[in-house]
Amino acid sequence: MCGIVGYVGQKRATDVLLKGLASLEYRGYDSAGVAVVCDGELMVTRRVGKLAALRDVIDAAPPQGTTGIGHTRWATHGRPSEENAHPHIDCDGALAVVHNGIIENYMDLREELTAAGHAFTSETDTETISHLIEACYTGDLTSAVQAALARLDGAYAIAVAHRDHPGEIIAARKDSPLIIGIGDGENIVASDIPAVLAYTRDVMILDDGQVATVTAAGVRVVDLSGAEVTPERMLVEWDLAAAEKGGYDDFMLKEIHEQPRAIRETLLGRMGDDGRIQLSELAMDDDALRAIARVTIIACGTSYHAALVAKTLIETWARVPVEVDFSSEFRYREPIVGPDTLVVAITQSGETADTLAALRTARQRGARAISITNVVGSRVTRESDGVIYTHAGPEIGVAATKTFTAQLAAVYVLALYLAQVHGRLSVDEVRAVWDQLQAMPDVVQRILADDAAILACAEEFDSPVSSLFLGRGIGVPAAMEGALKLKEISYIHAEAYAAGEMKHGPIALITPEVPVVVVALQGHTYEKVVSNVQEVRARGAQVMAVATEGDTAIGKHAEHVLFVPAVPELLSVIPAVVPLQLLAYHVAKLRGCNVDQPRNLAKSVTVE
Ligand code: G6P
Repeated sequence: MCGIVGYVGQKRATDVLLKGLASLEYRGYDSAGVAVVCDGELMVTRRVGKLAALRDVIDAAPPQGTTGIGHTRWATHGRPSEENAHPHIDCDGALAVVHNGIIENYMDLREELTAAGHAFTSETDTETISHLIEACYTGDLTSAVQAALARLDGAYAIAVAHRDHPGEIIAARKDSPLIIGIGDGENIVASDIPAVLAYTRDVMILDDGQVATVTAAGVRVVDLSGAEVTPERMLVEWDLAAAEKGGYDDFMLKEIHEQPRAIRETLLGRMGDDGRIQLSELAMDDDALRAIARVTIIACGTSYHAALVAKTLIETWARVPVEVDFSSEFRYREPIVGPDTLVVAITQSGETADTLAALRTARQRGARAISITNVVGSRVTRESDGVIYTHAGPEIGVAATKTFTAQLAAVYVLALYLAQVHGRLSVDEVRAVWDQLQAMPDVVQRILADDAAILACAEEFDSPVSSLFLGRGIGVPAAMEGALKLKEISYIHAEAYAAGEMKHGPIALITPEVPVVVVALQGHTYEKVVSNVQEVRARGAQVMAVATEGDTAIGKHAEHVLFVPAVPELLSVIPAVVPLQLLAYHVAKLRGCNVDQPRNLAKSVTVE
């Protein structure tokens, strides 16, 4: 996610903006910019790369204005470049906007505004907001922003400055965080608390649909109907390190809690008004996609587990055969791929050496290649024919969490799209799944709220020599991801198995000292999973089950049960995996491990 800072007060705005943006640097970004109101002009400075590049230009001739907005951008729409960096201005440079989030209907709005004579200079969705405010402006900036927001679909946190409104910033949000630090004769708008801590600990938390007019003297907040409202206030007691983590103990925990937003933003803009999934990023027309006889997915680590889920979804919904392979294996075998193969590389970093090499191997053999990644402009995007971006925002914890569930959101979209193009699911069937996917962020939110039960389970994980994770069907990749998380951050050995295979080997490991974690959600193999659980129980195993709310029988088969909301079977992988992420997290914390930087592991593996 990008960083936003806005300032109105007595100090030189650039000083506050650069300091605030620096305090958000830990989140990662690829370009930065500021706009300052100065003697009736708006002075905009933007640079690609680190803040130091921006600071050098500003230090050479610092604008003296005391009202301004700033931004660090993590690219989503359009590559990292000076043109795409924020702030974005309107046609004659009167107003500037910084924005976090995704505007779903920006293409339609851009067309409409272009037809009305507005000239665009960037590839971003954000620039639409600048021109929309310009079109709505008749002298009152707050009203213009309100009118513009009424036209936007999607998620946003914005700050707006105008050359004719020195001493005023307008801030608003929907589904993206935004706060206002209340100072003494100065107020600071920011996407995150660290940016205001050098000035104040008194923080106003804007809510969805609220629009704030911020001046040095005060903050007036209205809702979208124009009625005045009083947002929540809090006194921040965190130090800077805690504030960077949003008050969580670790980045990993913060990122686990960011999953509802990561899923929501990855799904944004994918459903058209005609009830059809939109995926123009594939850069393949429907005929070319229908000519695809098979799909091959290559990935490593956690991304490999997303690939396994994709196989089940695509085969079930689109009835196209799917092969999944580790990138490191694929590149050194003689894979059967050709012009009738769609190769999908899944990689959160977009830089994994094995995945890049596997992708090249496939393309050399004539396959069409697309990638699913979280990093705009990463190497994999330059070597693919099409790219589906996940919108999880930067992930700092080494162990993938929110990037994984965002990948899952993306593979649901891809599978539905293939099913639609291949004529395997009707518009109504696609719509039904889509509606359930839309509910997923709330499902995850409910699971996160039940953390106490997961912590209680973790306390039972008393340093075992090993552990076994079981599941069936779509529960297998969930079990594999749960085991990988536990291994990565707690250093407890964990083995994942398809539960039906357990009797062919792993059952020999079962003792009361080896806990068994089982994904036992409702679905067509539920009874089979329960039988497998009975097999391990009979050998003295301690069982923890992830089960569906309302499953009154499961308590007979497991010592501990983590209940998650009921969802259709094919959508159950996300509810299954979230408690397992938290289980691994708590076990690791109880063992005193550094969950953000586990030993021997790297976030991005750019060597073979
Ligand atoms: C590293 C990371 C894992 C990740 C894997 C694949 O091992 O620690 O979290 O799953 O690389 O990375 P990718 O960027 O290709 O998804």
